[in-house]
Amino acid sequence: MKKRVLSGIRATGRLHLGNYLGAVKGMIELQNNSEYECLYMVADAHTITTPYNPQELKTNQKEIIIDYLAAGLNPEKSTLFIQSQISEHFELAYYFSSIVSIARMQHLPTYKEKVKQYPKNNTMALLNYPVLMAADILVYKANLVPVGIDQEPHLEVTREIARKMNQTYGTNFPEPKRFSTPGEYIPSLKGEGKMSKSVEGSYINLTDSIDEIRKKIKSIPTATISGGPITGGVKTLFLLAKLFLKESDYQKFKDEYHQGILKFVNIKNAVAEAIYQELKPIQEKRSQIAQNKDYVEKVVKNGAERAKTIASQTLKEVKEKMGLR
Ligand code: ADP
Ligand code: TRP
Repeated sequence: MKKRVLSGIRATGRLHLGNYLGAVKGMIELQNNSEYECLYMVADAHTITTPYNPQELKTNQKEIIIDYLAAGLNPEKSTLFIQSQISEHFELAYYFSSIVSIARMQHLPTYKEKVKQYPKNNTMALLNYPVLMAADILVYKANLVPVGIDQEPHLEVTREIARKMNQTYGTNFPEPKRFSTPGEYIPSLKGEGKMSKSVEGSYINLTDSIDEIRKKIKSIPTATISGGPITGGVKTLFLLAKLFLKESDYQKFKDEYHQGILKFVNIKNAVAEAIYQELKPIQEKRSQIAQNKDYVEKVVKNGAERAKTIASQTLKEVKEKMGLR
């Protein structure tokens, strides 16, 4: 039997370069490896753990699917679906919650950050976020999860839940591992923290024009003179150069930097141009797919059917083992 892969992205807005490099690129790589069966979802139920607008959520559900398709996820190879359409995720999360302590959830850095960000929104759903994520993964008995490094604490919780369920009830959940990419952590363009939807000015959208990309890359804080240790904005710039430029160009800029003769405008222009060259075909494909609403609906409908078949089987097993049927 093939190993399974599961991943998802919250439907909080449009995808940015960090999502693409840290998550979507890994999703594509695994999809194109015939050893794996891949399931990729829009984590719309995770979206409601922080303040949101229902109208926007409805739009974003489909927008993320369109982003996935445009970036290269192929519904012939991968199952693409919307999390909230598979009710088994929520049922399993509830059963899992009976073996997870409140203290363990309260100590997670991801939880603490969100409470700090939205102090008025310290809800049960937010506390339960990692439990639902564990259910998302384990309901398909997935072995590999392509996500950025910031999701590692959630995967640790998922493994703990798998272990505890197996010990307590004799289930056979795997302990899933993160599948990492060279872009597993893309820093913010502002020189501090990670590139994130929730920080204005920190990100490049997959739909940005060449002018927007140039402007954003220019805004990365760099010193006026080059040389010395590579830190802050300069480090971000060299990471993007490493990920997008030809190795020889990257080396040339690096040598110039260490010799103290690098003009930042040159490396910034080269990086902006290279990012745009990678995004341009995705943008073109996106505008075609966005016009074909029926196609998108069909992809999601087929995806839900396949996902449901696997998920309901797992639920049957778990309920039997837990004495619920
Ligand atoms: P955001 O923090 O912008 O809201 P999400 O939390 O929705 O992004 O993340 C979706 C996926 O993209 C996850 O797999 C996450 O690890 C990955 N990701 C998000 N930001 C980055 C980043 N700056 N670098 C690498 N991967 C990232
Ligand atoms: N927590 C992930 C994020 O913020 C989204 C997510 C929800 C997810 N369920 C998942 C990722 C299951 C991988 C697997 O991006």
